[in-house]
Amino acid sequence: MQAVGVGSQAASEFFFQWRIEAPRDGVGIVNLAAYDNSDFNRGAPAWVEALWWVARSLFFAGWFPLPSALRCALLRLFGARIGHHVVIRSRVNVTFPWRLEIGNHVWVGEEVLLLSLAPVKIGNHVCLSQRAFLCTGSHDIRSEAFRLVTRPIVIEDQCWIASGAFIGPGVTVGRHSVCAAGSVVLRDIPPQTIASGNPAQTRLRGADQPGVR
Ligand SMILES: CC(C)(COP(=O)(O)OP(=O)(O)OC[C@H]1O[C@@H](n2cnc3c(N)ncnc32)[C@H](O)[C@@H]1OP(=O)(O)O)[C@@H](O)C(=O)NCCC(=O)NCCS
Repeated sequence: MQAVGVGSQAASEFFFQWRIEAPRDGVGIVNLAAYDNSDFNRGAPAWVEALWWVARSLFFAGWFPLPSALRCALLRLFGARIGHHVVIRSRVNVTFPWRLEIGNHVWVGEEVLLLSLAPVKIGNHVCLSQRAFLCTGSHDIRSEAFRLVTRPIVIEDQCWIASGAFIGPGVTVGRHSVCAAGSVVLRDIPPQTIASGNPAQTRLRGADQPGVR
């Protein structure tokens, strides 16, 4: 298939290389052939990761409402630190359990994605609603080789990460804060704050609200 008015050479350049910024000095042309993550520490031997893929496919990927206790036990078996009274719903997707820490009384809703390439630490009394995405990974868009960048995420006690919220690499969400549905959170959120929108804007939780001291 060939795009109208575009030669095959030009078309392939269009699909496989794209300009990120004006190529004044040749920097900024992405070349995925140069991608190399061999220095990325995966944190566990390949056979453990392979076994985790099996467990993940059998006990996490489906809709069947298996007991949370079973899922917590499996996560612990693969190195996660999980507190008590933790609810893990169906289709929760954890990349590396050995980089996951969850406190007590935490709810993790359906289809939550925990991309734990770097450590993900979730405090006590935290609710992660459906399809929230805690994303510890990104790429350096100034690097020709599309260099992998990973940074940890911390969700402090009593936070609510609402449905479809995106929490980016390196973000700490301060105690008793809310990341509203669909928010895109790329910077730290102070305690007792509501973050909403893309990019997230913040406002303080009202002092009249229950739980605010
Ligand atoms: C954040 C949330 C809790 C509302 O908080 P609130 O303080 O009661 O907010 P209000 O409804 O009073 O709205 C305050 C302002 O924030 C805006 N706002 C509320 N939620 C928003 C969101 N998700 N994204 C962007 N703006 C939002 C409102 O439009 C309003 O703006 P305005 O002042 O310009 O009119 C709610 O909107 C939300 O995101 N809920 C998540 C629902 C969910 O994930 N459910 C999972 C299943 S239980």
